[in-house]
Amino acid sequence: MDVTRRDTMLAGLAGGTLIASAAEASASATGGNMTPTPAQRKLVDAAIEVRQKAYAPYSKFLVGAALEAEDGTVSAGCNVENLSYGATMCAERNALFHAIASGHRKFKAIAVVGDLPEPITPCGMCRQVLGEFGGDTQVICANLKGDTMVTTVAALLPSAFSFDPSKT
Ligand code: THU
Repeated sequence: MDVTRRDTMLAGLAGGTLIASAAEASASATGGNMTPTPAQRKLVDAAIEVRQKAYAPYSKFLVGAALEAEDGTVSAGCNVENLSYGATMCAERNALFHAIASGHRKFKAIAVVGDLPEPITPCGMCRQVLGEFGGDTQVICANLKGDTMVTTVAALLPSAFSFDPSKT
């Protein structure tokens, strides 16, 4: 299925309401909103900056992410691709691993930016990995045109994989 068709389907799926774009559909489906605060906008700017450093010679699709810890520290990450395509790492997980390696465990928000017609949303694997550190983390999805969609990790990943390791 091509991307346009997928986006049309997503838009059509948003609760029966006529919705103009996939971003609005996602915002509606996840309880998100479209307007960032100045602090969220700042995080998007940090993601735009690190996006320039992405290593994406195969897809040519540059992604930047900036994760704000509880104490306000911002950790940045970009996607890093590999000739063995499956070894590629997304911007969001690189930002998260950067933050963990810097000693952070609690997060307020992550901004993610890609050059798409609609705000980019994190892939499923990144949603699960972000969820490890809390579903309440805000996710500010953005593109280079200034469109944004603000939601949370929990809203983006209903029925996340979970189990109690002490009971296995
Ligand atoms: N990518 C990310 O960095 N984050 C996402 O949420 C989705 C995809 C990267 C992986 C790959 O380098 C490129 O975008 C194309 O899939």
